[in-house]
Amino acid sequence: MARLQYIEDALVQSNDRVNHDTFEIVVNSPQISKVAKPGQFVMVSCAKTGNSPLLRRPISIYDINGENFSLLYKVVGSGTEIMSEMSIGDTVSMLGPLGTGFNIAKTKHHCLIGGGIGIAPLLYLARIIRQSTPDSKITILEGARNSSELLIQDKFQPFGEMLVSTDDGSEGHHGFVSELLDRLSTENMTVYTCGPNPMMEVIAAICRKHNWDCQVSMETHMACGMGACLGCSFLRAGEHEGVEKYVHVCKDGPVFNAEEIWA
Ligand SMILES: Cc1cc2nc3c(=O)[nH]c(=O)nc-3n(C[C@H](O)[C@H](O)[C@H](O)COP(=O)(O)OP(=O)(O)OC[C@H]3O[C@@H](n4cnc5c(N)ncnc54)[C@H](O)[C@@H]3O)c2cc1C
Ligand code: FES
Repeated sequence: MARLQYIEDALVQSNDRVNHDTFEIVVNSPQISKVAKPGQFVMVSCAKTGNSPLLRRPISIYDINGENFSLLYKVVGSGTEIMSEMSIGDTVSMLGPLGTGFNIAKTKHHCLIGGGIGIAPLLYLARIIRQSTPDSKITILEGARNSSELLIQDKFQPFGEMLVSTDDGSEGHHGFVSELLDRLSTENMTVYTCGPNPMMEVIAAICRKHNWDCQVSMETHMACGMGACLGCSFLRAGEHEGVEKYVHVCKDGPVFNAEEIWA
């Protein structure tokens, strides 16, 4: 099926600080908002003057409300710094929605696990799981370095139980978020996760042990976001007909079944 993708001049509705280095921007973008699915992303033009920075930046769809969608982003460099300076009434060019998002499984229990800013694509996923399977159970696990890095816990409250962990023990479980997952005792569960690769690799191994399906949302550097430049190639698990195989995270993903990435 052809994927609908647009370049849309989106009108900034708000751009608010969420914590010391993280912002939520809401934009009016009717075409992208209408077709975007959980786990898909947009390429944001951050060019302020002239063409700099030249390349758009990939950011996941965080939430959708009618003709508006929002992005939750952490300021790490020049592009996200420029995004943080955008004001109500500015226009920003958005390309999207891009990539293959999460596949909502038919299991009775869904576990969503975010590490750091990796929590961003899971809010809209929780909303759509709740809408499409009202009787299913949703557990949300969030891990961060410390309590000031824990994001948006209140937003998940309508969708299910939330447990948090911090590396320094300042809030919730003292340790890694994967340790919370290993404690869940349930049979028929699907896990959806986004965060640092080492975290997702451990989560994939726990899921393999418990026989849970696991979908991982990968992050790589991206230039085009549309499968044209090979900038996002990632070596997938195992050999295929005797040769190593690379995937394009932007087009084949960013969401993959975990066993495609870590065998
Ligand atoms: C599919 C996808 C979805 C994403 N969703 C989100 C999101 O919802 N919220 C969010 O805050 N960020 C998200 N990111 C990461 C975001 O794209 C980068 O943080 C952003 O492009 C950095 O741009 P910059 O110009 O501010 O920083 P740059 O100046 O380009 O880089 C600053 C630093 O960040 C590192 N960096 C940049 N991009 C990446 C990357 N993709 N992976 C790992 N390190 C990187 C650079 O190596 C450098 O050290 C996503 C990335 C991908 C691929
Ligand atoms: S970013 Fe260009 S091929 Fe994926």
